[in-house]
Amino acid sequence: MLSKLLSPLCIIPFVLGAPAPSAVTLSTPGGNVTATILGPYSPVTTSSSFPLTSAASSATSSASASTSGASTTGVITIPLSSYSFTPYPTPTLNPRPPIYPATDPLNPPSVSSDPQVVPDFAPAWSAAYQKAKYLISDYTIEEKVNITTGVGWAKGLCIGNIPPNKNFPGLCLEDSPLAVRSVDYATAFPAGIHVGSTQVIFDWNRALMRARGLALGQEFKGKGVNIALGPMMNMGRIAQGGRNWEGFGADPFLTGESAYETILGLQNGGVQATAKHFINNEQEHFRASESSNVDDRTQHEIYAHPFLRSVMAGVSSVMCSYNLINETYACNNDKMLNDILKREYGFQGFVQSDWQATKSTLSAVAGLDMTMPGDITFDSGDSYFGGNLTDYVNDGYISMARLDDMATRIIAAWYFLHQDEAYPATNFNAFNSKDEVNNKHVNVQADHYKLVREIGAAGTVLLKNENGALPLNKPRNLVLIGSDAGPGKFGPNEFPGQGGSDGVLAMGWGSGTGDFPYLISPLEGIQERARQDGSSVFWDFDDWNTALAGNMAYGEAVALVFTNSDSGEGYITVNGNNGDRKNLTAWHNGDDLILAVAAQNNNTIVVVNSVGPLIIEPWIEHPNITAVIWAGIQGQEAGNAIADVLYGAYNPSGRLPYTIAKDVVDYPAQLVTKGSGSNIVTIDYTEGLFIDYRHFDQANIMPRFEFGFGLSYTTFTYSDLSVTPIQSSDTDQEDLITAWEDGKASPIAEGSSAALWLHEPAFQVTFEVTNTGPVSGTEIPQLYIHHPSSASEPPSVLKGFTNVEISPYDIKQVSITLSRYDLSIWDVIAQGWRKPDGQISFSIGASSRDFRLQGDIPI
Ligand SMILES: *[C@@H]1O[C@H](CO)[C@@H](O)[C@H](O)[C@H]1NC(C)=O
Ligand SMILES: *[C@@H]1O[C@H](CO)[C@@H](O)[C@H](O)[C@H]1NC(C)=O
Ligand SMILES: *[C@@H]1O[C@H](CO)[C@@H](O)[C@H](O)[C@H]1NC(C)=O
Ligand SMILES: *[C@@H]1O[C@H](CO)[C@@H](O)[C@H](O)[C@H]1NC(C)=O
Ligand SMILES: *[C@@H]1O[C@H](CO)[C@@H](O)[C@H](O)[C@H]1NC(C)=O
Ligand SMILES: *[C@@H]1O[C@H](CO)[C@@H](O)[C@H](O)[C@H]1NC(C)=O
Ligand SMILES: *[C@@H]1O[C@H](CO)[C@@H](O)[C@H](O)[C@H]1NC(C)=O
Repeated sequence: MLSKLLSPLCIIPFVLGAPAPSAVTLSTPGGNVTATILGPYSPVTTSSSFPLTSAASSATSSASASTSGASTTGVITIPLSSYSFTPYPTPTLNPRPPIYPATDPLNPPSVSSDPQVVPDFAPAWSAAYQKAKYLISDYTIEEKVNITTGVGWAKGLCIGNIPPNKNFPGLCLEDSPLAVRSVDYATAFPAGIHVGSTQVIFDWNRALMRARGLALGQEFKGKGVNIALGPMMNMGRIAQGGRNWEGFGADPFLTGESAYETILGLQNGGVQATAKHFINNEQEHFRASESSNVDDRTQHEIYAHPFLRSVMAGVSSVMCSYNLINETYACNNDKMLNDILKREYGFQGFVQSDWQATKSTLSAVAGLDMTMPGDITFDSGDSYFGGNLTDYVNDGYISMARLDDMATRIIAAWYFLHQDEAYPATNFNAFNSKDEVNNKHVNVQADHYKLVREIGAAGTVLLKNENGALPLNKPRNLVLIGSDAGPGKFGPNEFPGQGGSDGVLAMGWGSGTGDFPYLISPLEGIQERARQDGSSVFWDFDDWNTALAGNMAYGEAVALVFTNSDSGEGYITVNGNNGDRKNLTAWHNGDDLILAVAAQNNNTIVVVNSVGPLIIEPWIEHPNITAVIWAGIQGQEAGNAIADVLYGAYNPSGRLPYTIAKDVVDYPAQLVTKGSGSNIVTIDYTEGLFIDYRHFDQANIMPRFEFGFGLSYTTFTYSDLSVTPIQSSDTDQEDLITAWEDGKASPIAEGSSAALWLHEPAFQVTFEVTNTGPVSGTEIPQLYIHHPSSASEPPSVLKGFTNVEISPYDIKQVSITLSRYDLSIWDVIAQGWRKPDGQISFSIGASSRDFRLQGDIPI
């Protein structure tokens, strides 16, 4: 039974395909871990029939469709679009180097710790649209529809497939945000959340984000994937949210910049990137049957912002999510897809559905361009697009112009990435690892393991360090305690979809994963390093025998206790965690194990591999716990990265991408677990702008560790602040700048939120940072805006960060630039970005609460 479950063949069908629930039970030292694998995405029972007769009155063309034509049964409404689709909404009038250069996705601006270039992809899109229009000019309706319709679940080599047509070879879509999924010879990178915590690394903070994107992009291309299904950029609104670790943290600016650099990197590698999940898919419970009700300002300032940055990075595709927004399914949501994404952001690529998230043929009119995997439910053989879309176009319910727009967007994205120029053919079968005809076993790993190790160390956060406990200095001996210090009993790919926890945790679970080629455990990483000092290494991986753990720790020079906390996608349940975490305490008896060791050893060092925050109150202030390392989700080099930080080969500079609270109830929003799958569950985002640290600041709640916090093996001081306005390079739009300075909102127009005048550098903040300690280190200065009270904003909002590596006792000058957009709030009435009334001030500091310098914006 076990060996059968563990065979690679079984992994794929279980991951997404198995229709019948199945349970895997694996015994662990202290009890059994049960993983229930349900049919992949539970179908929503809400009816979604759209009688043709009522649609007919309104749907001769998308441009002229009224908003009142469709009648529905059930709660779904399709607001028919009133937007026309001009193909080239350009955010400004002309590319204008050096600030606004015409940019090809294969040749993005080089990475900078203080980015000032705003790439203009409009000319590249324009060229791609011309080719796409020419290509489909002789296509029949059926052929155009074929470009928009996936071939059906498991009917192709990839997780999603668009069939070939004439000179167009078709498209391969494949997971995940951290690896090429379901293949061998590919790298298992650190998760998005780990890259988010690299917000604090030196000159390569952004450089590491970009490098990770590029390496992933090269691996996807090498495997013949056209469209990578990442990055994922949901917001961590709920601390327990199952998929938070796939994203970049609980702040829109941090997430937006991480997404921006990741997408520039991925597409530089040749693959099309997918910004997902659009939008408000913030928990796994009821993800396909909950309505996230979000006010317009919160939507713009928090949840949609990373998607704007994705569009500005030239992202080729956006994936609409399973959930509803204001009672309308995301893939049917005219306001989100047509108005905000395509009109306001000027998005020229295509919208694809999450797998089975399409609810209607008329979604095409609401802005959906491609349905995935194509069939209505897995293996049903029918489709909302396909024959239905053909009929709707033939019968005049959906305009030919809209179908042309859909097919053009998809083909244009392919030309935009130059995938018509000798792109590798798909050389694996995601559904059958034993298919020796299609699995060519192409090795795409290069030396990416080095980058994995570096990001692993760079994203690790030092939370506590007393009595000079770290870095380790030739300890006589060490004992490693806890199963998270060792390997899993059946290797790193023990659980289908990584849906289980045994050994070091280096990935969450679900479709956002990949297979590990290998996985370095802390035991391996530390032993290899301990050899240099001649230290003795002992270990005990039994989490439940706390008496033994205490005995093992007693009298040793260093006791390292390892624990973790896991989560993932809701189609897999692990130990009662239905995707989302059921609690914020350490797994595997972690708290008791730590306390048992600390009772016996006055140099206890805790290492935590967690998908998100934990409540660590039971032990954080224990006097015998001398150091705590928040090691995150590090990928295949986890043990080496941990050893690098423990021994000071890497001076830690990672910062927390979320708040660690003292109590679960301190978080502003809680997981909703009550409701019935057959009714729509309402989730009102009543906390509005006040997510994570914004809430703790506003409500004056003391967290255990605040957002942006992280220690180093050295110390830094800040001095010599100055802020100066920067002359605009967008001379055509001086009137808009003057109006903005007078407090007027930006105009309603195509691409208006991506306009150059709004995003070009407008103010430059400079200051000096001094390394006051005896070792080299990297500081991550952060800039927080404090809006005037008229703005009703949170007390502090992150709007800049950089990274500076400084030698012992040296001083460096640092610069962070701000745009007009960074200083604006969303005006719901005017539907534009505007400067609030009153003085805008800012702080520079080492976290969201450790401010060192203060200034005013000179406007
Ligand atoms: C774990 O599972 C095994 C095999 O199913 C069973 O014999 C054992 O009693 C279980 N242990 C616990 C603690 O539930
Ligand atoms: C459309 O694609 C399907 C495969 O999904 C193929 O069987 C069919 O022949 C195609 N139709 C046209 C008109 O190209
Ligand atoms: C959802 O409803 C709120 C409150 O009426 C509104 O501000 C917002 O724009 C709506 N969003 C969408 C996508 O319809
Ligand atoms: C068209 O869509 C309906 C659901 O609205 C579905 O039942 C039917 O099978 C689809 N037809 C085709 C040809 O896929
Ligand atoms: C820690 O315990 C050791 C013995 O295990 C002892 O030698 C040492 O002085 C203790 N250190 C402190 C700070 O109490
Ligand atoms: C929290 O969840 C973990 C993982 O399922 C479990 O091991 C632990 O016992 C739970 N803790 C509490 C206090 O319920
Ligand atoms: C700290 O560790 C020492 C052993 O080194 C032990 O005697 C002492 O009781 C521990 N302190 C606490 C508060 O547990």
